[in-house]
Amino acid sequence: MKLDVIGLEKKIVTIAVLTSIVHLCLIAYAALKLNITVPGCVENPQNIEKAEIISHGEKRYELRMISKMWAFEPKVTRLPVGSKVDIFMVSKDVNHGFQIVGTNVNVMAVPGVVTQAQVEFRKPGSYRIVCNEYCGTGHHDMYGIIEVSEDVVEPEIRGGYEEIAMKALNIDEHPGKPIMDRQGCLACHSLDGSVTVGPSFKGLYGKIEELTDGTKVKVDEAYLKVAINDPQKQIVKGFNVQMPPLPLNDEEITHVINLIKVLK
Ligand code: CUA
Repeated sequence: MKLDVIGLEKKIVTIAVLTSIVHLCLIAYAALKLNITVPGCVENPQNIEKAEIISHGEKRYELRMISKMWAFEPKVTRLPVGSKVDIFMVSKDVNHGFQIVGTNVNVMAVPGVVTQAQVEFRKPGSYRIVCNEYCGTGHHDMYGIIEVSEDVVEPEIRGGYEEIAMKALNIDEHPGKPIMDRQGCLACHSLDGSVTVGPSFKGLYGKIEELTDGTKVKVDEAYLKVAINDPQKQIVKGFNVQMPPLPLNDEEITHVINLIKVLK
C-alpha cells in the first residue's frame, strides 16, 4: 500500500490550526468571561524607583516591586486574607523570573519594561516568590515571601536587596570609606566593634546611646549629622576626647552615614 504523504500532512496542519484556534478562544474566554487578567507589560510605564504598597480601597492594593541581583524588593510582603493585588514589577539589571508559588502568577521581570500581574489571595498562607530565570551566581538565593494572614490589618512591606548588599558589602568599595580615611575617622572609631577612643561604627546605627548629660538618644541620621558637624554637642557617655568638627559637604556626610548604616 502506498502512503498518502500529502494527505497526512494536510491532516496534521488542519489539527495544528484547529488546536491553535481553540487555545486562543480559551484565552479570550478567560480574559473576557472569567475576568482573569492575562499577565502582560504595561504600556507607557512609569518607572518604579521604590518598592511600595499602595491601598486602593478595601483589600485592593497595588504592589510595586523591584528585582535586582539577587533579591526581590520588598523581600517580605504581609497582606490580609482576601487581598486583591495588582503587582507591578521592574528589573534593575538582567532578566529575572517572578513566580508566586501556588498562584497563577509566573512572569518575567525584564529591564526597561514594567511587568504587570494580578492576583487574589483567598487563602491564608506563606506564598513564596521565586526567580525562575538563571540570573547569575546568586540566582538560587533570590526569593521573597508574601504572608497572607487573618492577623494582618494594614499591609506591610520590608526588606530587599539592600539587606543582601550589606551581607556582601566590601567596605573598601563603599564611597564613604575614602572620606573616612581622609578625615582620619578610623583612628578613633573602629569598624569591627572594638572600643578605642570613640564608639565603634559597627552596630552603631539604630543604637540607643546615653550622653554625658544622662539623656538617651537614638543614633539615626539626624544624630549622626550633628555628631559630624558639631561633635561637642552630644557626647556619648564614657567618651570625653575632643573630636574636631569635620569639614564635609552634605554629599560626603550622606556617604559616611550610609557606610555607618551598613556596618551591622
Ligand atoms: Cu533572578 Cu534568577
